[in-house]
Amino acid sequence: KVGETKERDDEDRVKESAEPEELVAIADYTAVDETQLSFCRGEKLLVLRRVTAEWWWGEREGRCGYIPASYVMQSLEDPEPEDTWQDEEYFGSYGALRLHLEMLSDQPRTAVYHQVILQHKEFLQDKVILDVGCGTGILSLFCAHYARPRAVYAVEASEMAQHTKQLVLHNGFADKITVFQQKVEDVTLPGKVDVLVSEWMGTCLLVGEKTFPIWR
Ligand SMILES: C[S@@+](CC[C@H](N)C(=O)[O-])C[C@H]1O[C@@H](n2cnc3c(N)ncnc32)[C@H](O)[C@@H]1O
Repeated sequence: KVGETKERDDEDRVKESAEPEELVAIADYTAVDETQLSFCRGEKLLVLRRVTAEWWWGEREGRCGYIPASYVMQSLEDPEPEDTWQDEEYFGSYGALRLHLEMLSDQPRTAVYHQVILQHKEFLQDKVILDVGCGTGILSLFCAHYARPRAVYAVEASEMAQHTKQLVLHNGFADKITVFQQKVEDVTLPGKVDVLVSEWMGTCLLVGEKTFPIWR
């Protein structure tokens, strides 16, 4: 179905425009040869023919040439502000202690991560570690406690990060672990990292030695 829709979209994009269509450039573009048009963001361009899904034939200031289709739109205005309700609901639920208590009490889950970090403590020593979605910071704390890493960046988007800062402090790792209350997509870290650790699945993880031989 997805393939069909894409093919249909491509067909629509390449079909000949019945009428020339005036579109707006959404970014600057510099032609790489004489068959293409150069233009600046905000300029109006006349699209004469949608030759392929990627390249349209158009006109700018009386000159014709190819325009990259992804550089033009109906208008410069942002079509729809990004929906944030899903993030609010998701991170809202992780902001409460209850879910974290459930995860920490999931003994097989927490014990497996504990075991893996312990088994790799030599490897983790002196490394810079990023804990993606650190929650209460349990993985960061395991790393800091067992492996003597150079630094641990613990990133958590929900309000839990505020508790995690306290947990780090009270466990005596404030000089090792830095907690960032941000989405990992948005965070700017102080530097490059060597190792990623992350537990993003929550509770009731099914484990098997055959599937994950690293745990042995
Ligand atoms: C399954 S929980 C695991 C928490 C913790 N790592 C543990 O093992 O107890 C996943 C956590 O990742 C956080 N998270 C999910 N997506 C994130 C994102 N894009 N940026 C930062 N944190 C995120 C959630 O808020 C949640 O606290």
